[in-house]
Amino acid sequence: MSAEPVLIARDLARYYEVSRGAFRDAATLKALDGASFTVERGKTLAVVGESGCGKSTLARLVTMIETPTSGSLQISGNETVGASAEIMRQLRPKVQIVFQNPYGSLNPRQKIGHALEEPLLVNTNLPAPERTERARAMMANVGLRPEYYDRYPHMFSGGQRQRIAIARALMLDPDILVLDEPVSALDVSIQAQVLNLLADIQERLNLAYLFISHDLSVVRHIANDVMVMYLGRVVEYGTRDDIFRNPQHPYTRALLSATPMADPERKRERIVLKGELPSPLNPPSGCPFNPRCPLAFEPCPILRPALLAHERSLVACHAVNKPAAAPQAA
Ligand SMILES: Nc1ncnc2c1ncn2[C@@H]1O[C@H](COP(=O)(O)OP(=O)(O)OP(=O)(O)O)[C@@H](O)[C@H]1O
Ligand code: SF4
Ligand SMILES: [Mg+2]
Repeated sequence: MSAEPVLIARDLARYYEVSRGAFRDAATLKALDGASFTVERGKTLAVVGESGCGKSTLARLVTMIETPTSGSLQISGNETVGASAEIMRQLRPKVQIVFQNPYGSLNPRQKIGHALEEPLLVNTNLPAPERTERARAMMANVGLRPEYYDRYPHMFSGGQRQRIAIARALMLDPDILVLDEPVSALDVSIQAQVLNLLADIQERLNLAYLFISHDLSVVRHIANDVMVMYLGRVVEYGTRDDIFRNPQHPYTRALLSATPMADPERKRERIVLKGELPSPLNPPSGCPFNPRCPLAFEPCPILRPALLAHERSLVACHAVNKPAAAPQAA
């Protein structure tokens, strides 16, 4: 398997201007505030963090549904920011997305076979018999029986519908799959089947996955690397093994401590975070995690920590990066 990066993001940001009513100025919401990462063919980068931390915003940028406010995004060796309409037209099929709820993206009145053929109809000149042949072959690839071709979405279970969504995402032979909470709506036993299917497809097709999930026990099974986000920023980024065995950032530790299945070998003491997740419209100064952080000390409300190399990971935390001046972790 080649180690060729097919997805390279540098300081990727997406801001939204949000109206605050008739008598107040619009505010800037930094949904994603400078994320840098790389994903190689055949590898999975998992993106984790609480609701609202910017995961789906990142997914919309990588799939080119939205354009970044700033930063650079390379897909399959091509820069997308500022690219011509023709380059974008060629790049769009390279990245496909699978959502949490495939029912929302499937037309209830369209037969599954036709739903699978649609991307070919829109993007290629293939004749109808060949489109049908490819749709049937893809159904077999994702474990759907050939007679399902003529059935409608409501006739399938949640797990089968997710197989259909995965099949549809593969029809244009992409390099990258963005999976936005792809198993979160499924029963645990079905989750395992869909995760196995995804792993199998990745190996066969040498695909890069950007796997978005709030569930670290799922991430542990599928990720090679893990990027932990908080309020639009990356707080820790490392290999799956480093993040799970030796988490550095207090937020990563808290997330892991709240995931019973995440670390069966070692029992972690549950770290309960203080307070609520702040509004991304009005994030705390300095380190955005400081009002909830059990390790916060003098510089934290004032200075924003940079994402710096620590051991084998990247970590944005004053306590981690200046251990001599900081209180020791419990
Ligand atoms: N189009 C938009 N206009 C204004 N704000 C937006 C827009 N899209 C997202 N946001 C805001 O950006 C922040 C990040 O949202 P995003 O959907 O990326 O979070 P998420 O991590 O996917 O959350 P979840 O786990 O709930 O899916 C949120 O505060 C959200 O309200
Ligand atoms: S910089 Fe300070 S507040 Fe932020 S995570 Fe580190 S110790 Fe906690
Ligand atoms: Mg989301």
